[in-house]
Amino acid sequence: MKNTPLFNATQSYARLEAHALQAQTWHMRDLFATQANRFATLSVSAAGLFLDYSKNRMNPDTLSLLFELARECRVEEKRDAMFSGEQFNNTEHRGVLHTALRAPRNASVLFEGQDVIPEVHDVLERVADFTRRIHSGEWTGFTGRRITDVVNVGIGGSDLGPRMVCLALRPFCLEDIRVHFVSNVDGHDLDAVLKKIDPETSLFIIASKTFTTAETMLNAQSARSWFLERAGEADLPRHFVAISTNLDAVSAFGIHTDNMFPFWDWVGGRYSVWSAIGLPVALAVGYDLFAEFLAGAHAMDVHFRHARLEINMPVILALIGIWNRNFLNYSSVSIAPYLQDLSHFSSYLQQLEMESNGKRVTKEGAPVTWPTSPVVWGNVGTNGQHAYFQLLHQGTDITPIDFITALKPSHALPEHHAALLANCFAQSEALMLGKTADEVRSDLQAQGMNPEEIEFQVPHRTFPGNRPSNTILMDRLRPEALGALVALYEHKTFVQGAIYNVNSFDQWGVELGKVLAATILEELQGRPAHEHDSSTAGLIRLARAALA
Ligand code: F6P
Repeated sequence: MKNTPLFNATQSYARLEAHALQAQTWHMRDLFATQANRFATLSVSAAGLFLDYSKNRMNPDTLSLLFELARECRVEEKRDAMFSGEQFNNTEHRGVLHTALRAPRNASVLFEGQDVIPEVHDVLERVADFTRRIHSGEWTGFTGRRITDVVNVGIGGSDLGPRMVCLALRPFCLEDIRVHFVSNVDGHDLDAVLKKIDPETSLFIIASKTFTTAETMLNAQSARSWFLERAGEADLPRHFVAISTNLDAVSAFGIHTDNMFPFWDWVGGRYSVWSAIGLPVALAVGYDLFAEFLAGAHAMDVHFRHARLEINMPVILALIGIWNRNFLNYSSVSIAPYLQDLSHFSSYLQQLEMESNGKRVTKEGAPVTWPTSPVVWGNVGTNGQHAYFQLLHQGTDITPIDFITALKPSHALPEHHAALLANCFAQSEALMLGKTADEVRSDLQAQGMNPEEIEFQVPHRTFPGNRPSNTILMDRLRPEALGALVALYEHKTFVQGAIYNVNSFDQWGVELGKVLAATILEELQGRPAHEHDSSTAGLIRLARAALA
């Protein structure tokens, strides 16, 4: 976009830097004490989600400056360009249209002069029809038995999305079909699944946008060999289907293109769960619930596209992230879903955010002179509390946290849910409030501890507090809310990429390792050694000796 100033050349950047110096002196305890309506003012609802961002080290001026920053970086124009199909992935010369995947049938989205919505819905219909045929028993295995096990073979975006969603929707999963995921080239992954399934009743989905990814191709070949040891070549079509953009490679693998569900170059791998890549989800929970998942994401799209910045949830979440990362200098973000079924959510977000914005040059190729994506990590609460929350409360680094939970459970154990919510809210309160030395002292005095021991204990038991968090609530973890949640983070990632002026849709950083792995594999298979540093050469020698 012409004449857009770089992030740190904006006027608001300079003002935010100065403002951050003041903010370093604030304690959120005082902000809450002086702003009675802080919760009401610093919270927003959209698409069935509620975001409380009041527990951040910010005041109304901070937000005004951040919205100015977004405007100076042309976030609204860039957002509109993405939705309207203008090329955005400038290093791969591709559009960025994952939002079209969840648009209703009567929408129209032009890409290179062509409306993509009819083909999107054609594929969705094929997904729906295939799902119906599997569920009804019309599609059977080679001996006429129903399909009971589905094995998704894919990695990265062809694995993390459907894997995360299938687990998140566990209470809605149909009983007579099990969905398994194999992603790792480590043979233990495939082996463990093959031991559990019967070739007569299993369906393999080979999911790969490019159909060239080494791990997926090796897993797919091994699955195919395993199957052919137990059935004939003619039986393959009933047991192997593919999801890809690469028709030729799918045919070359031996999967008939009738059994291939296509998607398009303008869908990034990490943004593809809404496409046919979501087939395992439809098979696990039924097509109608998959459609609800798409509808939830679409509701968030509508909000992101039309709400003004000041009440725009993805924009607010992104700007808080920028404030924490670039002005308060916090280098990681922890994701803490207080929902067991979201236990793959932080892995999913790792790819979404770190593969998208873990970049060191601008879209134009100049080195960025500001930090880009923070490290994203996390685990479910309450488990994390008993592992690494110690560091979050008292460690030397400050890590902002996103707490995510649902007000109502999908089980009939109400005491558990109250306990879960109590822990979730208590953690954000404790991180924000902390506990002063005086408070510790008076607690210990009340317990009758002797004064000398109290003074020894005080520093260990003091909490600085003032540690930021967001809390995202939904009514219940249902497909629609999940769709909205994933889309919320997609758009957050987009806004941050737009402000950093990086290409959030390529991933050149994964290429070098792939190339070197191919060379080393040849060496491990006995071909002559290449030149390596002494460490790599030594490791290869040890492995060659072990494998010989
Ligand atoms: O290597 C990274 C990556 O390209 C991801 O971006 C992608 O999601 C993953 O590999 C899998 O790619 P594919 O779907 O083409 O097999």
